[in-house]
Amino acid sequence: MTLETIKWNRADGKLEILDQTLVPTTISYIEIKGVKDGWNAINKMQVRGAPAIAMVGCLSMAVELLQHPGIYNDKDALFRDITDKMDYLVTARPTAVNLKLEAEGCKNLAEHMRVNFICHDIDFMIKNFIEHVDFKLRTDVKDNKSIGKFGADEILRNVPEGSSVTILTHCNTGSFATMGYGTALGVIRSLHEKGRLEHVYCTETRPYNQGARLTAFELVHDKIPATLICDNMVAALMKTKKITAVVVGADTVVGNGDTANKIGTYQIAILAKHHDIPFYVAAPLSSIDGKLSSGDQIIIEERPEREMTHINDMRIAAEGITCWNPAFDVTPASLITGIITNAGVSKPSDILDFIAKYIGITRDTLMELQHLSMNCDDDS
Ligand code: MRU
Repeated sequence: MTLETIKWNRADGKLEILDQTLVPTTISYIEIKGVKDGWNAINKMQVRGAPAIAMVGCLSMAVELLQHPGIYNDKDALFRDITDKMDYLVTARPTAVNLKLEAEGCKNLAEHMRVNFICHDIDFMIKNFIEHVDFKLRTDVKDNKSIGKFGADEILRNVPEGSSVTILTHCNTGSFATMGYGTALGVIRSLHEKGRLEHVYCTETRPYNQGARLTAFELVHDKIPATLICDNMVAALMKTKKITAVVVGADTVVGNGDTANKIGTYQIAILAKHHDIPFYVAAPLSSIDGKLSSGDQIIIEERPEREMTHINDMRIAAEGITCWNPAFDVTPASLITGIITNAGVSKPSDILDFIAKYIGITRDTLMELQHLSMNCDDDS
């Protein structure tokens, strides 16, 4: 997709994001001038999708460092500021683990510079921080392409040679949600590039309509054959059309393979099981939180009632009704056929052993590593 979700100019420290609350009717960018703006944009869902949230959080810190390098008297002050601000950014949205892990990575780097750098050159340390963030930006698209390839191969392995597949997806996991290509949508893009995609169905994804507004936009833009359905049509779709597989993204995959993703994912997984349709989660290794052992430990964000009662300024629910608006739900590992990562496809319950083997360490060592994502980048 040519539309850029995040525009970052390292040379002048300028960061702009596409305001996703306005897509598809308006394409408009807002400037993020620092951490406060970054927090607001993430919280208001002007940028959303676990990887994109993580990148905008880190970049908003980078912007602040580049624009005000003179405010730091010494490396302790730099360390304190990075630590406080990264902790603050994480509070903008609590469920997706990506921002938490990247924040830990940034804080670790700040601590490393404070303890181990002999020089006191603050500009040099800021440059080092920016390089760390830039590296993360570059790896995201590469990881998504790997997810796309592994996912397409996995799905095609289970269908007759040369036949085409039909995929159902939920929410938006594409270029809007990442630095480009996408995770679950990356699998769909890869199938399309191979000429093996018959059709995609995408759900509307109430209440925020990421499917209708964002995924549909990407599919139409890329000329991928696609049809939009309402969330309550999934069972009927599975009963009446031949769906080869469901592929969704993840906000957090925990140690036993349970997965938090956009509200509605769980019910789709139950329906897939009932209809004997493989159900895949596509996510980079940076979405896996090995510190949590069960989905029950994942904090589920609850969003304002207004997202359910209104569409823009128009009220669509009866005045006076109360609403429950959880943004995510947890799909148990038992309903997930496989987790498609940038390192290959794993059985959900084996995810930690799978990662340990990929990195070339034992599972015990993996558990000791505080920051999974920092240690999973193969060329870091
Ligand atoms: O509330 P959102 O729009 O941030 O939720 C997004 C999702 O649930 C995605 O599936 C997930 O973040 C993965 S995006 C690659």
